Amino acid sequence: MSNRPIYLDYHATTPVDERVLTAMLPYFTECFGNPSSNHIYGWEGGAAVKQAREIIATAINATPEEIIFTSGATEANNLAIKGVGEAYFQKGQHIITVATEHNAVLDPCQYLQSLGFEITILLVQGDGIINLNQLGEALRDDTVLVSVMAVNNEIGVLQPLAEIGAMCRQNHVLFHTDAAQAIGKITLDVQEMQIDLMSLTAHKIYGPKGVGALYVRRRNPRVQLAPQQHGGGHEQGMRSGTLATPQIIGFGKAVEIAVAEQDKENQRVVRLRDKLWSQISQLEGIYLNGHPTLRVGENLNVSVAGVNGAALLRGLQPTMTISSGSACSSTKTEPSHVLTALGRSQDLAYASVRFGIGKNNTEEEINQVAAHFISTVTSLRKQGSLV
Ligand SMILES: Cc1ncc(COP(=O)(O)O)c(C=O)c1O
Repeated sequence: MSNRPIYLDYHATTPVDERVLTAMLPYFTECFGNPSSNHIYGWEGGAAVKQAREIIATAINATPEEIIFTSGATEANNLAIKGVGEAYFQKGQHIITVATEHNAVLDPCQYLQSLGFEITILLVQGDGIINLNQLGEALRDDTVLVSVMAVNNEIGVLQPLAEIGAMCRQNHVLFHTDAAQAIGKITLDVQEMQIDLMSLTAHKIYGPKGVGALYVRRRNPRVQLAPQQHGGGHEQGMRSGTLATPQIIGFGKAVEIAVAEQDKENQRVVRLRDKLWSQISQLEGIYLNGHPTLRVGENLNVSVAGVNGAALLRGLQPTMTISSGSACSSTKTEPSHVLTALGRSQDLAYASVRFGIGKNNTEEEINQVAAHFISTVTSLRKQGSLV
C-alpha cells in the first residue's frame, strides 16, 4: 500500500473509518434480520436503523421521520426533484437550479424538461457563488422548486443556504439542497436555513458507499413527494426496498464521527490546504478556482496557464491521485462545466487540478505534493507542452 500514490481525491470518495466498519460488521452476520420483520431478528435490525436515523436527523436539526434512506445522493436528488415535480405538477412546472450543480441534479431537471417543465439555470459569479438578486428575479408564481447545492464538489465553494432558504420561504417555493459534500464539513440546520429537502451520502465522510438519505420536511410546510420507486411501501412509501441495514448503521456512525470531529478536522485540513497553496501559488500563471474563503477547508482547485491539462495529469498522477474536473465526469473530454461556468477559458478549464485533502494526509505528504507539482509544471512549460 505504501508505494501507492498519495491519495488527494477525498471529494470523489473516502476510505471507510475503522470505527464505522466495526459498527457495521455485526449487521452482516449475527444481526442480519430484515428491519421490517416482526420477530427478534427484525427488531434488532430495526432498533439499529432507528438509532442511525436519529443520529442523522439530529445532525441536521430534523426529526427522525423526516429522514428517508436511499442508495446515495444521486438517488436522493432524483427523488427530491422528480418527486416534487410530479407531486406539484398542478401547482406549477417551473424549477430553478444552478449551472455548477452536480449532474445528479442537472440531469433529473433535464428529464423534467423533456416532460414539459421549464428549467431556469442560474449562472454563477466568477467566484462560483450565485447572485441572490438573480435568484429573486427568476422566481415566478409557477416555480415549485429551487435546487442549489450546499458545497460544490469541484471547487468547494459554499452557497448562501440561509439566504436562499429565506427567499424561497417568502415566495412559497420549496428549497432543495444537495449536501453530499457538506455534511460533516459545515454545520447544516434545516430549521435555521429553511431547507425543505436535503440530499446526503455516506461515502464522502468515511462511511460506506451505496447509502444516503433525503431529508423531507414534514411541517411548515409538509412536503409532498411522489415516490420514484414502488414496492413494499418502506420509508413511509417514499422509497420502497428492504433497508440496507449494515450500510445505514455505517452511515449513522460516520455522521456521528464527522459531526463530533468537524471542527478539529477542519482546522487540520485548512492548515494543510493553505500550506499547499502557499507553496504552489509561487508559480507564475496559477489561478485559484472559486471563492478564496467561502469554501470548505479540504478543497483546493487551481488552473495553470501554459500547460496541457492531460499532460499535467499524466505528470502528476504517479505521485498523487487527483482529479481534473469532477471524478464523476472525468471520462468526458469536454472541460469541466463548473470551471467554464466561472468564466475560465477552455485551456485553463482543461489545465485544472482538484486537490481534495482528507483524514490520512500528512504535512510531509503535502510538501511532497507541492514540490512535485511545481517541478511538473515547470518542466512541462520548458517543453512547451500546450498540445
Ligand atoms: C455534490 C454531489 N452530489 C451528488 C453526488 C452523488 O452522490 P452518490 O455517489 O452518493 O450517488 C456527488 C458525488 O460525487 C456529489 O459530489
